[in-house]
Amino acid sequence: MMRIEQLLERNRAWAAAMVKEDPGFFSRLSQLQKPEFLWIGCSDSRVPANQITGTLPGEVFVHRNVANVVVHTDLNLLTVVEYAVEVLGIEHVIVCGHYGCGGVRAAMTQRDFGLINHWLRNIKDVYRTHRGELESIDDAERRADRLTELNVLEQVHNLAKTTCIQTAWKKHRRPHLHGWVYGIDNGLLKPIVDLAPDASIDPLYEIRPEA
Ligand code: CO
Repeated sequence: MMRIEQLLERNRAWAAAMVKEDPGFFSRLSQLQKPEFLWIGCSDSRVPANQITGTLPGEVFVHRNVANVVVHTDLNLLTVVEYAVEVLGIEHVIVCGHYGCGGVRAAMTQRDFGLINHWLRNIKDVYRTHRGELESIDDAERRADRLTELNVLEQVHNLAKTTCIQTAWKKHRRPHLHGWVYGIDNGLLKPIVDLAPDASIDPLYEIRPEA
């Protein structure tokens, strides 16, 4: 088991190595952050946004929650999205799920997880929307993998339904929305869906400026 002190020791070693490689690295970053990507991922410790995309501090703005869900009443997520889009000028938003997601698996059971039930409910709703396809898959593991992909698909569409993204699409012709799934067993990202700023969404959710 790693001692808590080791994290601080490793931090000092890491900072020293970074400065050795690029003496101006931290002073540059302290002046400005100008990331081009917003990452909405799962809190799972095996899916760290920067490491798996080979990016450095300053390159990815990150929001993580259990099972990478975009809930339209989640003030925390909406604040991150609005800041990323309007202040940082983000070009791409990535919603990234991962195979073997504990949140997705839990949502497929009837177990009582207490408070977490409310959060998992969002994934149960994705299951219900795609019940026919999911229940045609006999293998439980493959069904969970497919729900992981469909969850990413639905969360990207949930993002497109927000006022923030619809406004940004009209005003700035950005950001592009992407849905990916990460393979914990091979380290690879699989693209599932892309929505460009001219993508059409269900008119029921479309917000039009008043004529
Ligand atoms: Co997960």
